[in-house]
Amino acid sequence: MPLRVFVAGATGVVGRTLLPRLRQRGHHVTALLRTAGRAQGLPGADEVVVGDVLDLPRLRQVVRHAEPDVVVAQVSGFRGPDYDDALARTARLWEDGTRNLVAAAAEAGVRRVVAQSMVAAYCPNGHDVLDEDSPLWIDAPGRWGEAVRAVAGMESAVVDRSDLEGVVLRYGSLYGPNTWYAPGGLVHEQVRGSALPLVTDGVGLTSFTHVEDAASAVVEVLTAGETGTYNVVDNEPAECAEWLPAYARMIGGPAPLSLTLDQARAQLDWLTVHRLTEQRGATNFRLRETLGWRPGWPSWREGFATMFGLWPG
Ligand SMILES: NC(=O)c1ccc[n+]([C@@H]2O[C@H](COP(=O)([O-])OP(=O)(O)OC[C@H]3O[C@@H](n4cnc5c(N)ncnc54)[C@H](OP(=O)(O)O)[C@@H]3O)[C@@H](O)[C@H]2O)c1
Repeated sequence: MPLRVFVAGATGVVGRTLLPRLRQRGHHVTALLRTAGRAQGLPGADEVVVGDVLDLPRLRQVVRHAEPDVVVAQVSGFRGPDYDDALARTARLWEDGTRNLVAAAAEAGVRRVVAQSMVAAYCPNGHDVLDEDSPLWIDAPGRWGEAVRAVAGMESAVVDRSDLEGVVLRYGSLYGPNTWYAPGGLVHEQVRGSALPLVTDGVGLTSFTHVEDAASAVVEVLTAGETGTYNVVDNEPAECAEWLPAYARMIGGPAPLSLTLDQARAQLDWLTVHRLTEQRGATNFRLRETLGWRPGWPSWREGFATMFGLWPG
């Protein structure tokens, strides 16, 4: 059945991939943009409204006017050269912005809210590959702890309501066009500049998500799935020792340097060391079993290779 869908973050890497898919399914799409100028070249919106997710009065107005069945929150602030700033910006956008979207949606009688989150927030304890019942690392050190507490607060604001259905999609490391893994992106440039090393035996795990799979999961949960959290990741969590040299080869970059843990701690920021050495992967079992969702890009190997023209795709 065609729905009215309100998308915040429509101009982002997931939003731009999502909008045409929603249109293909016959849904009516209202895109929230920060400025009217951002509408240029935006595919798939039936209607554009201007507003900021941090401006609740304006958000109330535009959501009420759009009369959506579902509100989709794909806002984040990871763009920019300074990761600490990007993290703090995203934490605020998720905690306050997504919370505002939920409040505006509830007041407008919206049936369901779908919001993005990230598997990187899991506490690195227990199994290598974590499911949705694994705890988030709310007592992590420093800025990462602040960010994870914001993620946890946002997720509760979405799923703990009785007046609407809340679905949280926890993405893995997003890759695809215009992401950190594309030319000019943060990881791409770090690898080219030998700034992302292998630390000891490189056992930190990363679960990847192609932006097309993030978008297909949003489409899937517009109508299906119970209130709750779902990991949206590929089928192959990868150790750093595996994906980093493979990625470097695919982009024609230098082989990653090898550092001891002490060297890494002296040269890199805490979060990077955590990712490279102790981060866990995530499983998509819940989404596969409950909704039959399958990633279109089941492995980062084929996804990266296709991105760099090394695989037919
Ligand atoms: N999303 C994740 O979980 C995650 C985690 C780690 C790394 N990354 C990497 O970071 C890259 C950057 O992408 P991103 O994920 O941050 O998304 P993005 O592609 O930059 O999209 C963010 C979206 O949020 C919108 N937005 C930001 N602030 C807003 C506000 N106050 N009100 C309304 N809308 C607002 C942006 O609008 P404007 O177009 O106006 O800016 C944009 O549409 C990704 O490609 C990925 O490689 C992502």
